[in-house]
Amino acid sequence: MHTMSPALSAYLETNQSRFLDELFQLLRIPSISTLPEYRADVERAARFVADSLGAAGLEHVAVIPTGGHPLVYADWLHAPGRPTVLCYGHYDVQPPDPLDQWVTPPFEPTLRDGNIYARGASDDKGQMFMHIKAVEALRAVSGGRLPVNVKFLIEGEEESGGAALAGYVAEQAAALRADVALVSDTELYAEGLPTLCLGLRGLVYAEIEARGPAHDLHSGVYGGAAPNAVYGLVELLAQAKDAGGRILIPGIYDDVAEPSADELASWRRLPFDEQAFRQQEVGATQLTGEADRMVLERVWSRPTFEVHGIAGGFTGAGSKTVIPAAALAKVSLRLVPDQDPARVVRALEQWVAASAPAGIQASVRVLSMSPAVVVDPGHAAIHVAAQACAEVFGQPTVFIRSGGSIPVVGDFARHLGIPTVMMGFGLPDDALHAPNEKFRLGNYYTGIRTVAHFLQRYGAAH
Ligand code: BES
Ligand code: MN
Ligand code: MN
Repeated sequence: MHTMSPALSAYLETNQSRFLDELFQLLRIPSISTLPEYRADVERAARFVADSLGAAGLEHVAVIPTGGHPLVYADWLHAPGRPTVLCYGHYDVQPPDPLDQWVTPPFEPTLRDGNIYARGASDDKGQMFMHIKAVEALRAVSGGRLPVNVKFLIEGEEESGGAALAGYVAEQAAALRADVALVSDTELYAEGLPTLCLGLRGLVYAEIEARGPAHDLHSGVYGGAAPNAVYGLVELLAQAKDAGGRILIPGIYDDVAEPSADELASWRRLPFDEQAFRQQEVGATQLTGEADRMVLERVWSRPTFEVHGIAGGFTGAGSKTVIPAAALAKVSLRLVPDQDPARVVRALEQWVAASAPAGIQASVRVLSMSPAVVVDPGHAAIHVAAQACAEVFGQPTVFIRSGGSIPVVGDFARHLGIPTVMMGFGLPDDALHAPNEKFRLGNYYTGIRTVAHFLQRYGAAH
Protein backbone atom coordinates (compact mmCIF):
# COMPACT_ATOMS: atom_id res chain seq x y z
CA MET A 1 0.00 0.00 0.00
CA HIS A 2 1.28 3.46 -0.90
CA THR A 3 1.64 5.70 2.13
CA MET A 4 2.11 9.42 2.43
CA SER A 5 5.42 11.03 3.24
CA PRO A 6 6.65 10.60 6.84
CA ALA A 7 7.08 14.38 7.11
CA LEU A 8 3.42 14.94 6.25
CA SER A 9 2.26 12.26 8.69
CA ALA A 10 4.42 13.79 11.39
CA TYR A 11 3.09 17.29 10.74
CA LEU A 12 -0.51 16.09 10.91
CA GLU A 13 0.22 14.23 14.13
CA THR A 14 2.02 17.14 15.79
CA ASN A 15 -0.72 19.62 14.91
CA GLN A 16 -3.77 17.49 15.69
CA SER A 17 -4.91 19.35 18.76
CA ARG A 18 -4.46 22.79 17.16
CA PHE A 19 -6.46 21.62 14.11
CA LEU A 20 -9.27 20.68 16.46
CA ASP A 21 -9.03 23.85 18.49
CA GLU A 22 -9.28 26.00 15.36
CA LEU A 23 -12.28 24.05 14.09
CA PHE A 24 -13.96 24.54 17.47
CA GLN A 25 -13.48 28.31 17.12
CA LEU A 26 -15.29 28.23 13.78
CA LEU A 27 -18.04 25.98 15.15
CA ARG A 28 -18.73 28.50 17.92
CA ILE A 29 -19.88 31.08 15.37
CA PRO A 30 -23.64 30.67 14.74
CA SER A 31 -23.49 31.35 10.99
CA ILE A 32 -27.13 30.49 10.25
CA SER A 33 -27.61 31.81 6.74
CA THR A 34 -31.37 31.57 6.51
CA LEU A 35 -32.12 33.73 9.59
CA PRO A 36 -31.57 37.47 9.02
CA GLU A 37 -30.75 38.13 12.68
CA TYR A 38 -27.52 36.11 12.31
CA ARG A 39 -26.12 38.22 9.46
CA ALA A 40 -23.21 39.56 11.56
CA ASP A 41 -22.27 36.03 12.68
CA VAL A 42 -22.32 34.81 9.10
CA GLU A 43 -19.95 37.65 8.22
CA ARG A 44 -17.74 36.78 11.20
CA ALA A 45 -17.52 33.17 10.01
CA ALA A 46 -16.52 34.37 6.54
CA ARG A 47 -13.69 36.42 8.01
CA PHE A 48 -12.58 33.50 10.19
CA VAL A 49 -12.36 31.30 7.08
CA ALA A 50 -10.48 34.01 5.19
CA ASP A 51 -7.98 34.35 8.05
CA SER A 52 -7.51 30.58 8.16
CA LEU A 53 -6.80 30.52 4.43
CA GLY A 54 -4.27 33.33 4.86
CA ALA A 55 -2.61 31.52 7.75
CA ALA A 56 -2.35 28.38 5.60
CA GLY A 57 -0.28 30.38 3.12
CA LEU A 58 -2.89 30.98 0.46
CA GLU A 59 -2.79 34.19 -1.56
CA HIS A 60 -5.32 36.69 -2.91
CA VAL A 61 -7.50 36.00 0.10
CA ALA A 62 -10.74 37.94 -0.28
CA VAL A 63 -14.09 38.19 1.46
CA ILE A 64 -16.31 39.02 -1.48
CA PRO A 65 -19.57 40.84 -0.78
CA THR A 66 -22.64 39.65 -2.70
CA GLY A 67 -26.32 40.51 -2.67
CA GLY A 68 -26.55 37.82 0.02
CA HIS A 69 -23.81 36.48 2.30
CA PRO A 70 -20.14 36.92 1.39
CA LEU A 71 -18.03 34.45 -0.58
CA VAL A 72 -14.48 33.70 0.48
CA TYR A 73 -11.82 33.25 -2.19
CA ALA A 74 -8.11 32.41 -2.01
CA ASP A 75 -5.57 30.73 -4.26
CA TRP A 76 -2.02 29.43 -4.62
CA LEU A 77 -0.97 29.20 -8.25
CA HIS A 78 2.74 28.50 -8.29
CA ALA A 79 2.82 24.98 -9.68
CA PRO A 80 3.21 25.58 -13.43
CA GLY A 81 2.42 22.56 -15.54
CA ARG A 82 0.44 21.04 -12.69
CA PRO A 83 -3.36 20.86 -12.60
CA THR A 84 -5.56 23.29 -10.68
CA VAL A 85 -8.01 22.07 -8.04
CA LEU A 86 -10.98 24.24 -7.08
CA CYS A 87 -11.80 23.51 -3.44
CA TYR A 88 -15.38 24.29 -2.45
CA GLY A 89 -17.15 24.23 0.89
CA HIS A 90 -19.73 26.21 2.85
CA TYR A 91 -19.30 28.00 6.17
CA ASP A 92 -23.01 28.55 6.77
CA VAL A 93 -25.17 26.16 8.76
CA GLN A 94 -28.79 25.18 9.22
CA PRO A 95 -30.83 26.56 12.14
CA PRO A 96 -30.29 24.41 15.25
CA ASP A 97 -33.89 24.00 16.41
CA PRO A 98 -35.39 22.15 18.24
CA LEU A 99 -32.89 23.41 20.81
CA ASP A 100 -34.18 21.37 23.74
CA GLN A 101 -33.18 18.15 21.99
CA TRP A 102 -29.46 18.94 21.94
CA VAL A 103 -27.47 17.10 24.62
CA THR A 104 -24.92 19.96 24.54
CA PRO A 105 -25.66 23.36 22.96
CA PRO A 106 -25.28 23.52 19.15
CA PHE A 107 -22.70 26.31 19.16
CA GLU A 108 -20.64 24.98 22.05
CA PRO A 109 -18.68 22.24 20.28
CA THR A 110 -18.12 19.26 22.56
CA LEU A 111 -16.06 16.12 22.22
CA ARG A 112 -18.06 13.07 23.31
CA ASP A 113 -17.42 9.39 22.57
CA GLY A 114 -15.06 10.17 19.74
CA ASN A 115 -17.40 12.64 18.06
CA ILE A 116 -17.46 16.41 17.68
CA TYR A 117 -20.99 17.55 18.50
CA ALA A 118 -21.98 20.94 17.06
CA ARG A 119 -24.18 22.43 14.36
CA GLY A 120 -22.03 22.40 11.22
CA ALA A 121 -19.56 19.82 12.60
CA SER A 122 -20.07 17.61 9.56
CA ASP A 123 -22.16 19.91 7.32
CA ASP A 124 -19.94 21.57 6.37
CA LYS A 125 -17.55 23.48 8.59
CA GLY A 126 -15.64 20.41 9.73
CA GLN A 127 -15.31 19.06 6.20
CA MET A 128 -14.56 22.40 4.55
CA PHE A 129 -11.86 23.04 7.17
CA MET A 130 -10.16 19.74 6.26
CA HIS A 131 -9.23 21.21 2.88
CA ILE A 132 -7.61 24.24 4.51
CA LYS A 133 -5.65 22.09 6.95
CA ALA A 134 -4.57 19.68 4.20
CA VAL A 135 -3.14 22.57 2.19
CA GLU A 136 -1.52 24.07 5.27
CA ALA A 137 0.16 20.75 6.04
CA LEU A 138 1.34 20.16 2.47
CA ARG A 139 2.95 23.60 2.31
CA ALA A 140 4.52 23.24 5.72
CA VAL A 141 6.41 20.09 4.76
CA SER A 142 7.36 21.18 1.22
CA GLY A 143 9.06 24.51 1.77
CA GLY A 144 5.89 26.45 1.09
CA ARG A 145 5.05 24.63 -2.13
CA LEU A 146 2.00 22.61 -3.15
CA PRO A 147 1.79 19.62 -5.52
CA VAL A 148 -1.01 21.32 -7.48
CA ASN A 149 -2.43 24.80 -7.98
CA VAL A 150 -5.41 25.46 -5.76
CA LYS A 151 -8.29 27.90 -5.73
CA PHE A 152 -10.63 28.03 -2.75
CA LEU A 153 -14.22 29.17 -3.06
CA ILE A 154 -16.19 28.98 0.18
CA GLU A 155 -19.78 30.18 0.35
CA GLY A 156 -22.12 31.32 3.08
CA GLU A 157 -25.57 30.59 1.70
CA GLU A 158 -25.55 26.98 0.60
CA GLU A 159 -28.09 26.09 3.30
CA SER A 160 -30.47 28.88 2.34
CA GLY A 161 -30.56 28.28 -1.40
CA GLY A 162 -28.82 31.59 -2.09
CA ALA A 163 -28.33 32.70 -5.66
CA ALA A 164 -25.08 34.65 -5.21
CA LEU A 165 -22.67 31.82 -5.88
CA ALA A 166 -24.27 30.64 -9.12
CA GLY A 167 -24.02 34.16 -10.53
CA TYR A 168 -20.43 34.50 -9.35
CA VAL A 169 -19.36 31.22 -10.96
CA ALA A 170 -21.02 32.22 -14.24
CA GLU A 171 -19.45 35.70 -14.29
CA GLN A 172 -16.01 34.71 -13.01
CA ALA A 173 -15.69 31.53 -15.06
CA ALA A 174 -12.34 32.62 -16.50
CA ALA A 175 -10.85 33.48 -13.10
CA LEU A 176 -12.12 30.23 -11.58
CA ARG A 177 -10.70 28.06 -14.36
CA ALA A 178 -9.58 24.73 -12.91
CA ASP A 179 -9.18 21.11 -13.93
CA VAL A 180 -11.41 19.67 -11.28
CA ALA A 181 -13.43 20.76 -8.26
CA LEU A 182 -13.08 19.11 -4.88
CA VAL A 183 -16.04 19.06 -2.51
CA SER A 184 -16.16 17.46 0.94
CA ASP A 185 -19.81 17.87 1.82
CA THR A 186 -21.08 14.30 1.45
CA GLU A 187 -20.77 11.08 3.44
CA LEU A 188 -18.88 7.84 3.63
CA TYR A 189 -21.20 4.99 2.72
CA ALA A 190 -20.24 3.42 6.05
CA GLU A 191 -17.56 3.94 8.67
CA GLY A 192 -14.17 2.83 7.37
CA LEU A 193 -15.36 2.47 3.77
CA PRO A 194 -13.60 4.83 1.34
CA THR A 195 -16.34 6.48 -0.67
CA LEU A 196 -16.71 8.80 -3.64
CA CYS A 197 -20.07 10.31 -4.48
CA LEU A 198 -20.89 10.38 -8.19
CA GLY A 199 -24.28 12.04 -8.17
CA LEU A 200 -26.57 14.37 -6.28
CA ARG A 201 -30.25 15.12 -6.62
CA GLY A 202 -31.43 18.59 -7.55
CA LEU A 203 -34.04 20.57 -5.68
CA VAL A 204 -37.07 22.75 -6.30
CA TYR A 205 -38.10 24.40 -3.04
CA ALA A 206 -41.41 26.27 -2.91
CA GLU A 207 -44.15 27.65 -0.72
CA ILE A 208 -47.76 26.84 -1.49
CA GLU A 209 -50.19 29.34 -0.07
CA ALA A 210 -53.90 28.57 0.22
CA ARG A 211 -56.54 31.23 0.77
CA GLY A 212 -60.15 30.55 1.59
CA PRO A 213 -62.50 33.10 3.15
CA ALA A 214 -61.48 36.78 3.15
CA HIS A 215 -60.81 36.59 6.91
CA ASP A 216 -60.93 34.09 9.76
CA LEU A 217 -64.48 32.95 10.59
CA HIS A 218 -66.30 31.51 13.61
CA SER A 219 -66.40 27.78 12.89
CA GLY A 220 -69.79 27.37 14.52
CA VAL A 221 -71.48 30.16 12.67
CA TYR A 222 -69.93 29.39 9.25
CA GLY A 223 -68.68 25.79 9.52
CA GLY A 224 -70.41 23.54 6.98
CA ALA A 225 -70.67 26.27 4.39
CA ALA A 226 -67.35 28.15 4.27
CA PRO A 227 -64.07 26.82 2.76
CA ASN A 228 -61.26 26.23 5.25
CA ALA A 229 -57.77 27.23 4.06
CA VAL A 230 -55.87 24.74 6.25
CA TYR A 231 -58.12 21.85 5.31
CA GLY A 232 -58.07 22.90 1.65
CA LEU A 233 -54.27 22.98 1.69
CA VAL A 234 -54.13 19.53 3.26
CA GLU A 235 -56.59 18.21 0.65
CA LEU A 236 -54.41 19.64 -2.08
CA LEU A 237 -51.18 18.20 -0.66
CA ALA A 238 -52.80 14.80 -0.17
CA GLN A 239 -53.27 14.56 -3.93
CA ALA A 240 -49.54 14.88 -4.66
CA LYS A 241 -48.70 11.21 -4.20
CA ASP A 242 -50.55 7.91 -4.21
CA ALA A 243 -50.28 5.37 -1.40
CA GLY A 244 -47.49 3.62 -3.30
CA GLY A 245 -45.32 6.72 -3.19
CA ARG A 246 -45.77 7.63 -6.84
CA ILE A 247 -45.93 11.37 -7.49
CA LEU A 248 -49.19 12.28 -9.21
CA ILE A 249 -48.18 15.72 -10.50
CA PRO A 250 -48.64 15.31 -14.28
CA GLY A 251 -45.41 15.25 -16.26
CA ILE A 252 -43.12 14.79 -13.28
CA TYR A 253 -41.61 11.54 -14.57
CA ASP A 254 -41.33 12.67 -18.20
CA ASP A 255 -37.57 13.29 -18.22
CA VAL A 256 -36.46 10.97 -15.42
CA ALA A 257 -33.35 9.04 -16.49
CA GLU A 258 -32.70 5.60 -15.04
CA PRO A 259 -29.24 4.76 -13.74
CA SER A 260 -27.29 2.48 -16.07
CA ALA A 261 -27.45 -1.27 -15.52
CA ASP A 262 -23.82 -1.14 -14.35
CA GLU A 263 -24.49 1.55 -11.80
CA LEU A 264 -27.54 -0.26 -10.47
CA ALA A 265 -25.53 -3.46 -10.22
CA SER A 266 -22.85 -1.63 -8.22
CA TRP A 267 -25.52 -0.35 -5.82
CA ARG A 268 -26.79 -3.90 -5.36
CA ARG A 269 -23.28 -4.95 -4.33
CA LEU A 270 -23.10 -2.34 -1.56
CA PRO A 271 -23.73 -3.68 1.91
CA PHE A 272 -27.27 -2.57 2.74
CA ASP A 273 -29.23 -3.67 5.78
CA GLU A 274 -32.79 -2.48 5.25
CA GLN A 275 -33.81 -3.22 8.82
CA ALA A 276 -30.87 -1.26 10.29
CA PHE A 277 -31.62 1.59 7.89
CA ARG A 278 -35.25 1.63 8.97
CA GLN A 279 -34.67 1.25 12.69
CA GLN A 280 -31.39 3.03 13.35
CA GLU A 281 -31.31 5.77 10.74
CA VAL A 282 -34.97 6.47 10.04
CA GLY A 283 -36.47 5.22 13.30
CA ALA A 284 -39.87 4.35 11.84
CA THR A 285 -42.15 1.32 11.86
CA GLN A 286 -42.08 1.04 8.07
CA LEU A 287 -40.31 2.45 5.06
CA THR A 288 -42.47 4.07 2.40
CA GLY A 289 -42.18 4.92 -1.26
CA GLU A 290 -42.02 3.01 -4.50
CA ALA A 291 -42.09 -0.63 -3.47
CA ASP A 292 -40.72 -1.83 -6.81
CA ARG A 293 -37.52 0.19 -6.32
CA MET A 294 -34.74 -0.72 -3.91
CA VAL A 295 -34.24 1.78 -1.12
CA LEU A 296 -30.98 3.14 -2.56
CA GLU A 297 -32.81 3.94 -5.79
CA ARG A 298 -35.60 5.65 -3.92
CA VAL A 299 -33.18 7.95 -2.12
CA TRP A 300 -30.58 8.45 -4.88
CA SER A 301 -32.19 8.30 -8.29
CA ARG A 302 -35.94 8.88 -7.92
CA PRO A 303 -37.73 12.23 -7.66
CA THR A 304 -39.54 13.09 -4.45
CA PHE A 305 -42.27 15.37 -3.22
CA GLU A 306 -41.99 16.30 0.46
CA VAL A 307 -43.83 18.65 2.81
CA HIS A 308 -41.48 20.38 5.26
CA GLY A 309 -43.94 22.31 7.33
CA ILE A 310 -47.47 23.66 7.42
CA ALA A 311 -48.49 26.90 9.06
CA GLY A 312 -51.94 28.35 9.54
CA GLY A 313 -54.90 28.54 11.84
CA PHE A 314 -54.69 28.09 15.58
CA THR A 315 -51.94 25.94 17.12
CA GLY A 316 -51.62 27.53 20.57
CA ALA A 317 -52.53 25.95 23.89
CA GLY A 318 -56.22 25.32 24.44
CA SER A 319 -58.87 25.56 21.78
CA LYS A 320 -60.04 28.26 19.42
CA THR A 321 -62.91 27.58 17.07
CA VAL A 322 -61.81 29.23 13.88
CA ILE A 323 -62.02 28.62 10.16
CA PRO A 324 -58.65 29.91 8.99
CA ALA A 325 -58.51 32.27 6.02
CA ALA A 326 -54.97 31.35 4.97
CA ALA A 327 -52.44 28.53 5.23
CA LEU A 328 -48.94 27.96 3.98
CA ALA A 329 -46.94 24.83 3.21
CA LYS A 330 -43.22 24.58 2.56
CA VAL A 331 -42.65 21.85 0.00
CA SER A 332 -39.86 20.54 -2.18
CA LEU A 333 -39.23 18.17 -5.02
CA ARG A 334 -35.88 16.41 -5.29
CA LEU A 335 -34.87 16.13 -8.92
CA VAL A 336 -32.87 13.49 -10.73
CA PRO A 337 -31.15 13.38 -14.10
CA ASP A 338 -32.45 14.64 -16.66
CA GLN A 339 -35.26 16.68 -15.07
CA ASP A 340 -35.27 20.39 -15.89
CA PRO A 341 -36.04 22.46 -12.77
CA ALA A 342 -37.94 25.12 -14.75
CA ARG A 343 -40.12 22.44 -16.28
CA VAL A 344 -40.77 20.89 -12.89
CA VAL A 345 -41.79 24.30 -11.55
CA ARG A 346 -44.29 24.71 -14.39
CA ALA A 347 -45.68 21.24 -13.71
CA LEU A 348 -46.05 22.10 -10.02
CA GLU A 349 -47.77 25.41 -10.76
CA GLN A 350 -50.19 23.82 -13.21
CA TRP A 351 -50.98 21.01 -10.83
CA VAL A 352 -51.64 23.42 -7.95
CA ALA A 353 -53.89 25.58 -10.10
CA ALA A 354 -55.83 22.55 -11.34
CA SER A 355 -56.07 20.70 -8.03
CA ALA A 356 -57.01 23.29 -5.41
CA PRO A 357 -60.33 22.26 -3.87
CA ALA A 358 -63.51 24.34 -4.29
CA GLY A 359 -63.32 27.78 -2.73
CA ILE A 360 -59.54 27.67 -2.21
CA GLN A 361 -57.13 29.87 -4.15
CA ALA A 362 -53.69 28.26 -4.11
CA SER A 363 -50.49 29.86 -5.35
CA VAL A 364 -46.86 28.79 -5.66
CA ARG A 365 -43.80 30.83 -4.75
CA VAL A 366 -40.50 29.23 -5.76
CA LEU A 367 -37.63 29.87 -3.34
CA SER A 368 -34.82 28.03 -5.12
CA MET A 369 -34.13 25.51 -7.84
CA SER A 370 -31.17 23.46 -8.95
CA PRO A 371 -30.82 20.44 -11.24
CA ALA A 372 -29.40 17.02 -10.36
CA VAL A 373 -25.78 16.26 -11.21
CA VAL A 374 -23.86 13.13 -12.10
CA VAL A 375 -20.10 12.84 -12.46
CA ASP A 376 -18.40 10.77 -15.16
CA PRO A 377 -16.68 7.93 -13.29
CA GLY A 378 -14.22 7.62 -16.17
CA HIS A 379 -12.64 11.02 -15.51
CA ALA A 380 -8.94 10.89 -14.60
CA ALA A 381 -9.41 12.90 -11.40
CA ILE A 382 -12.01 10.39 -10.17
CA HIS A 383 -9.55 7.56 -10.75
CA VAL A 384 -6.82 9.33 -8.80
CA ALA A 385 -9.27 10.20 -6.03
CA ALA A 386 -10.51 6.62 -5.79
CA GLN A 387 -6.93 5.40 -5.58
CA ALA A 388 -5.98 7.97 -2.95
CA CYS A 389 -9.00 7.08 -0.79
CA ALA A 390 -8.33 3.36 -1.14
CA GLU A 391 -4.70 3.84 -0.10
CA VAL A 392 -5.50 5.82 3.02
CA PHE A 393 -8.35 3.52 4.12
CA GLY A 394 -6.66 0.29 3.06
CA GLN A 395 -9.55 -1.05 1.01
CA PRO A 396 -11.23 -0.45 -2.36
CA THR A 397 -13.25 2.74 -2.83
CA VAL A 398 -17.01 2.41 -3.31
CA PHE A 399 -18.99 4.72 -5.58
CA ILE A 400 -22.34 6.00 -4.44
CA ARG A 401 -24.80 8.77 -5.13
CA SER A 402 -26.42 10.95 -2.50
CA GLY A 403 -29.98 12.12 -2.34
CA GLY A 404 -29.00 15.57 -1.03
CA SER A 405 -28.23 18.61 -3.12
CA ILE A 406 -25.16 20.83 -3.51
CA PRO A 407 -26.28 23.28 -6.18
CA VAL A 408 -22.83 24.63 -7.08
CA VAL A 409 -21.64 21.25 -8.36
CA GLY A 410 -23.97 21.74 -11.32
CA ASP A 411 -22.69 25.27 -11.83
CA PHE A 412 -19.10 23.99 -11.94
CA ALA A 413 -20.09 21.54 -14.66
CA ARG A 414 -22.09 24.09 -16.66
CA HIS A 415 -19.95 27.21 -16.40
CA LEU A 416 -16.44 25.81 -15.85
CA GLY A 417 -16.87 22.53 -17.74
CA ILE A 418 -15.24 20.56 -14.92
CA PRO A 419 -16.24 17.50 -12.93
CA THR A 420 -16.33 17.50 -9.14
CA VAL A 421 -14.63 14.97 -6.92
CA MET A 422 -17.10 14.54 -4.06
CA MET A 423 -14.95 13.14 -1.29
CA GLY A 424 -16.97 13.35 1.90
CA PHE A 425 -16.16 11.98 5.35
CA GLY A 426 -19.46 12.39 7.16
CA LEU A 427 -21.39 9.33 8.31
CA PRO A 428 -25.01 8.42 7.59
CA ASP A 429 -25.88 8.96 11.27
CA ASP A 430 -24.22 12.37 11.61
CA ALA A 431 -27.65 13.98 12.10
CA LEU A 432 -27.22 16.68 9.45
CA HIS A 433 -29.79 19.47 9.83
CA ALA A 434 -31.02 17.78 13.03
CA PRO A 435 -30.33 18.03 16.76
CA ASN A 436 -26.97 16.62 17.94
CA GLU A 437 -25.21 16.92 14.60
CA LYS A 438 -21.81 15.31 14.92
CA PHE A 439 -18.61 14.63 13.01
CA ARG A 440 -16.45 11.70 13.97
CA LEU A 441 -13.16 13.07 15.24
CA GLY A 442 -11.20 10.29 13.54
CA ASN A 443 -12.86 11.15 10.24
CA TYR A 444 -11.83 14.80 10.58
CA TYR A 445 -8.20 13.69 10.74
CA THR A 446 -8.60 10.95 8.14
CA GLY A 447 -10.27 13.52 5.88
CA ILE A 448 -7.31 15.88 6.19
CA ARG A 449 -4.91 13.04 5.38
CA THR A 450 -6.95 11.78 2.45
CA VAL A 451 -7.40 15.23 0.91
CA ALA A 452 -3.65 15.89 1.26
CA HIS A 453 -2.86 12.51 -0.23
CA PHE A 454 -5.24 13.10 -3.13
CA LEU A 455 -3.66 16.47 -3.92
CA GLN A 456 -0.19 14.89 -3.87
CA ARG A 457 -1.24 12.03 -6.11
CA TYR A 458 -3.17 14.27 -8.49
CA GLY A 459 -0.14 16.54 -8.82
CA ALA A 460 2.19 13.61 -9.37
CA ALA A 461 -0.08 12.14 -12.04
CA HIS A 462 0.76 15.08 -14.32
N1 BES B 1 -24.21 18.76 2.44
C1 BES B 1 -25.61 18.84 2.18
C2 BES B 1 -26.06 17.95 1.05
C3 BES B 1 -25.74 16.49 1.26
C4 BES B 1 -26.05 15.86 2.44
C5 BES B 1 -25.16 15.78 0.26
C6 BES B 1 -25.75 14.53 2.62
C7 BES B 1 -24.88 14.46 0.43
C8 BES B 1 -25.16 13.83 1.61
C9 BES B 1 -25.97 20.29 1.88
O1 BES B 1 -25.43 21.17 2.82
C10 BES B 1 -27.45 20.47 1.95
O2 BES B 1 -28.00 20.23 2.99
N2 BES B 1 -28.05 20.91 0.88
C11 BES B 1 -29.41 21.29 0.87
C12 BES B 1 -29.59 22.14 -0.34
C13 BES B 1 -30.54 23.26 -0.30
C14 BES B 1 -30.80 23.96 0.95
C15 BES B 1 -30.49 24.13 -1.52
C16 BES B 1 -30.28 20.06 0.78
O3 BES B 1 -29.86 19.03 0.21
O4 BES B 1 -31.39 20.10 1.29
MN1 MN C 1 -23.47 20.79 3.17
MN1 MN D 1 -26.79 20.97 4.63
